[in-house]
Amino acid sequence: MAEIIAFANQKGGVGKTTTAINLGASLASIKKRVLLIDLDSQGNASTGLGFVRSAYRQNVYDVIMGNGTAQDNILTTATPGLHLMPSSMMMAGAEAELYDLDNREYRLRDALAPLYEYYDYILLDCPPAMGFVTLNALTTANNVLIPLQCEFLSLQGISHLVNSVREIKNKWNPDLSVLGFLLTMYDKRYGQTRTAEEDVRKTFGDAVFKTVIPRNVRVSEAPSHGIPALFYDFDCPGAQAYLRVATEVVERLEKGE
Ligand SMILES: Nc1ncnc2c1ncn2[C@@H]1O[C@H](COP(=O)(O)OP(=O)(O)O)[C@@H](O)[C@H]1O
Ligand SMILES: [Mg+2]
Repeated sequence: MAEIIAFANQKGGVGKTTTAINLGASLASIKKRVLLIDLDSQGNASTGLGFVRSAYRQNVYDVIMGNGTAQDNILTTATPGLHLMPSSMMMAGAEAELYDLDNREYRLRDALAPLYEYYDYILLDCPPAMGFVTLNALTTANNVLIPLQCEFLSLQGISHLVNSVREIKNKWNPDLSVLGFLLTMYDKRYGQTRTAEEDVRKTFGDAVFKTVIPRNVRVSEAPSHGIPALFYDFDCPGAQAYLRVATEVVERLEKGE
C-alpha cells in the first residue's frame, strides 16, 4: 500500500513544491514507485517536471470532479520511477466548486483508491491555502510533511497549521500524522536562520528532520530545465540534502509501522 504524504503549509514560497519534486526524485532513485500529484493551480510541480501547462490533457482537476479515472490522468516523467498527475488552471476554481459537491472532503481520496496498490509513495503538493483542496489532500494522506522556510519563520503560523492538522485528523482522517518539519532555504551565515532552527527544534524536538535543506541556487535553477535537482546537478548540496531527507522519511515510516 502506498504511503501518502501531503506537503502542506498555508504560507507560499516555503519550499512545498521544491520538496515534493526533489523528495519524489530521491525516492524514485532508490527504486521506489512514486506518483507526484500537483494540486496547486499555479502548476509549479508540473512545469518543474517539464510539462508546460495546457500542452497535455491529463490533470488532477478532472480526477477530483469525476470526469476521468486516476489511471488515465498520469504522465511518466524523465525521471525513471517518478510519475506525475499534473495540475490545471481549473484548480483555481476547484475551491468554490467543491463546496457544493457531494462527498466534498473525500473526493480525491476516493478517486485515487485504485492507485494505492501500485505506488510505494504518493506525494501531494498542496496550494498555499487551508481550503477544500488542501483538506482533500489531508483526508487522502496518512502523513503530512511541513516545510518551513528558515528565513521568514512564524512560530505562530506553524502552531496554527499544526492545530488545523489536528482538527482534520479528529474530524475527517484519524490516520493522519505529522511526518515531520523540514527546514528549507537554510543559510547558516544568517543569524535569523540559526535562531529559526533553535526555535523550531526547541518547540518540535524530534519531529524536525535532522537534515536541513541549504539555500542552493542549483535547486532553484533546476525547475526551469524541467528536471529535479538530482538530475540537473547530482553533486549540488541541495540535491544531496534531499537524498538524505528521503532516507530519513523511509526510516520514519518504517519505524511507524
Ligand atoms: N533550497 C533552496 N534553495 C534555493 N531556492 C529554493 C530552495 N527551495 C526553494 N527555493 C525557491 O524558492 C521559491 C519557493 O519555493 P517553492 O518550492 O515553490 O515553495 P511553495 O511551493 O511552498 O510555494 C522557488 O522559486 C524555489 O525555486
Ligand atoms: Mg508550490
